[in-house]
Amino acid sequence: MMKIAVAGAGYVGLVTGVCFAEMGHHVICVDKDTSKIESMKTGVSPIFEPGLQELMRKNISAGRLEFTTDYKLAYRDRGAIFIAVGTPERLDGAADLTHIEETIKQIAGMIEQDSLIVIKSTVPVGTAEQMESMIRLFLKNDVKVEVASNPEFMSQGSAIRDTLYGDRIIIGTASEEAEILLRTIYEPFELPIVTVSRKSAELTKLAANGFLALKISYMNDIAALSEAVGADIQEIAKGMRLDGRIGSSFLNAGIGFGGSCLPKDIKALDVYARENGQELKMIKAAREVNDKQQTVLFRKAKTLLEEFHGLKIAVLGLTFKPETDDIRNAASLVNIELLLKHGAEIQAYDPTGAKKAAAVFPEGKHGEGTIAYSRTLEQALEGADVCFIFTEWEEIKSLRPALFKRLMHSPYVFDGRNLFDLQEMDDAGIKYTSIGR
Ligand code: UGA
Repeated sequence: MMKIAVAGAGYVGLVTGVCFAEMGHHVICVDKDTSKIESMKTGVSPIFEPGLQELMRKNISAGRLEFTTDYKLAYRDRGAIFIAVGTPERLDGAADLTHIEETIKQIAGMIEQDSLIVIKSTVPVGTAEQMESMIRLFLKNDVKVEVASNPEFMSQGSAIRDTLYGDRIIIGTASEEAEILLRTIYEPFELPIVTVSRKSAELTKLAANGFLALKISYMNDIAALSEAVGADIQEIAKGMRLDGRIGSSFLNAGIGFGGSCLPKDIKALDVYARENGQELKMIKAAREVNDKQQTVLFRKAKTLLEEFHGLKIAVLGLTFKPETDDIRNAASLVNIELLLKHGAEIQAYDPTGAKKAAAVFPEGKHGEGTIAYSRTLEQALEGADVCFIFTEWEEIKSLRPALFKRLMHSPYVFDGRNLFDLQEMDDAGIKYTSIGR
């Protein structure tokens, strides 16, 4: 088993470190955030991710997982150093590589043995090569280094499963030695390993996220047509899913894709393409469809109700998807802003995301509208005139139509996730609007 360092104990770094430890490697996660490291040492995960904390505790107890703020200690005598620091979006949409560059310089100043540095963060094509040139300029000791690319494919809410039982591992290296080392690290995972050039590995990640975005936007486009002609997008998706060439996932029409990855990565793809004299027309279209889709529910409600002033609106689901507390680029935020502008009185509920949403829209008055956060789903629905559904949390999915009828003042339900049966809602006397059907 190998001794591995993971630089950056954020979402990707922590999940990666924990999963390497689970596979038997000895892992040290290093980060400059002292309070985060201190709490992780005691087995407390700073992020909400199903199964993560349990696995953290198990591997800390087994002595395979450590946390430190001491970079020198972290980089000493390691088989490989994985970089998983953030690459936030720059104003022009490209990735900001400041944290990667800082980490590279830091490693250069500290390593005393030949090292393989592996970039896990999502980065522009060519970053591994550039970082290899950079590290050579800053090396303090006479050692050999290679920088490899090993993008991650974990989704929030299922990150542990995606890492331990994912579809594939992509390894981009420049030498056979690095390839063998990375193959050895990943051998216990027993997953298909694809070895490619570093640039191909970097572009595979962006192309994969871009393709997922295309699939969603395509279904949202077809949903609009489906609605116009009286077909049902869910029936259409059911038929399409069985075609192995299309694939069974990412065919759910709804309120568009949010989160920190798909929106950011397709913007970055667009920028890199243009920087390289290319135009990715489909990616551009996916973005346009998504921007429009995020407000589709509000527009439908506006057409039907005309006026939101003084209406009590229950908002169910704030996060960009279930099993996370992340609200970045969530459609709920765009719609809440519009509803508040139009004078609505919002009662919002989310099992995990309310705290973060309250940081964007604090409880109280916002112009002519107001927002409050309910502790339970029922509390949010109580006395509401209209209900908006933005996230397919299990407890929202399992609501019975009769409950809307019983708790709400006048049951208008606008569902951005197509969670309910049209007939059942109609039978229960609910005015139900969903997407593409
Ligand atoms: C995405 C990719 O799925 C991961 O493979 C990748 O590793 C990750 O980005 C990353 O780059 O780090 P994530 O953003 O966590 O993962 O979430 P997804 O499951 O991809 O969902 C993104 C958005 O698409 C959500 O808002 C979701 O509701 C929406 N979606 C997804 C749909 O509207 N319809 C679908 O059929 C599927």
